[in-house]
Amino acid sequence: MLEQLKELAAEAEKEIKRVGSLSGLNDLRVKYLGKKGPIQEVMKKMKDLSPDDRKVAGQISNDVKRNLSDAINAKKEELELAEISKQLRDETIDVTLPSKKTIIGGLHPLNAVIADIEDFFIGMGYKIALGTEVEEDHYNFELLNLPQDHPARDMQDSFYIDEHHLLRTHTSPIQIRTLEAAKGEGPVKIICPGKTYRRDDDDATHSHQFMQIEGLHVDQSVTIADLKGVLEAFAKHIFGAKRQIRLRPSFFPFTEPSVEVDVSCSECGGDGCSLCKQTGWLEILGAGMVHPNVLKMSGFNTPEFDVSGGEAPRYQGFAFGMGVERIAMLKYGIPDIRHFYTNDMRFLKQFK
Ligand code: PHE
Repeated sequence: MLEQLKELAAEAEKEIKRVGSLSGLNDLRVKYLGKKGPIQEVMKKMKDLSPDDRKVAGQISNDVKRNLSDAINAKKEELELAEISKQLRDETIDVTLPSKKTIIGGLHPLNAVIADIEDFFIGMGYKIALGTEVEEDHYNFELLNLPQDHPARDMQDSFYIDEHHLLRTHTSPIQIRTLEAAKGEGPVKIICPGKTYRRDDDDATHSHQFMQIEGLHVDQSVTIADLKGVLEAFAKHIFGAKRQIRLRPSFFPFTEPSVEVDVSCSECGGDGCSLCKQTGWLEILGAGMVHPNVLKMSGFNTPEFDVSGGEAPRYQGFAFGMGVERIAMLKYGIPDIRHFYTNDMRFLKQFK
């Protein structure tokens, strides 16, 4: 019986030495020290021994078990250490390797210009008002003093969706909706940024979809001098402190008087060059005093249509509207509006 135990111990030790994984080692522990293991089997036979022999055999078998258990524990430590060093080796980072370049996006130049313009007007006390791209004819034209068949509708060739709905041709309908919501009570001081659509053949300076920012300030004593002051500060903010503006008479159905606003040429400073077609000026936006008809239709009391006989406050104000692409093209010297929409990375990367 002692022989058997010794043989088993020797065999077990050999196997423990050979095993290469923690799970294999655990199998060995179960195999040799578990309740159904061969050592246990041998020990069952101890009851047939004389008491003296049994004592000796008991001691020896306990020694064998302890030795095996120690060997297994030692091997376990060894395997765990090996595993950790392997893991450390595998996960070593060579900090001297050149890094992979991550491509970081940037603001699209149009969004950057919009953010800049919004910042300027927020600083002047304007709120931002938004609207929908599909608009009712009523708000896009009629309430802007452009009734059906008005010849000026031709200035804004439109994409109609059905008889009464179209893709907005400007962001002016937002101004009307804001005025309506104010229920005849000023002040209203907003800018309206957004996408707009017109049936145009796309070329270097035309796009069937473009962006606008329009502004509106209605109160009891707003004048065209305020308009000029705001736009001059605006032009200097966007194009530089040396720029000047001038107002030229123009026509829009929703403003009276109407003006076209030019900024002194950023290229030649006003001397005349190819960019400003030798005029020294670049057109940047349209503006004017809100037509009394427009204010009246939106529920505002005006000096022209005062039915209160001077009891109720009288409102007047100015509006302006600009194409964001045009502002960005002039600011950055971009020659073709299509660059904004063709997503050529070589173009976009320059504005990071
Ligand atoms: N809504 C005009 C356009 O898109 C721009 C404009 C706005 C002109 C306000 C004058 C006053 O053409």
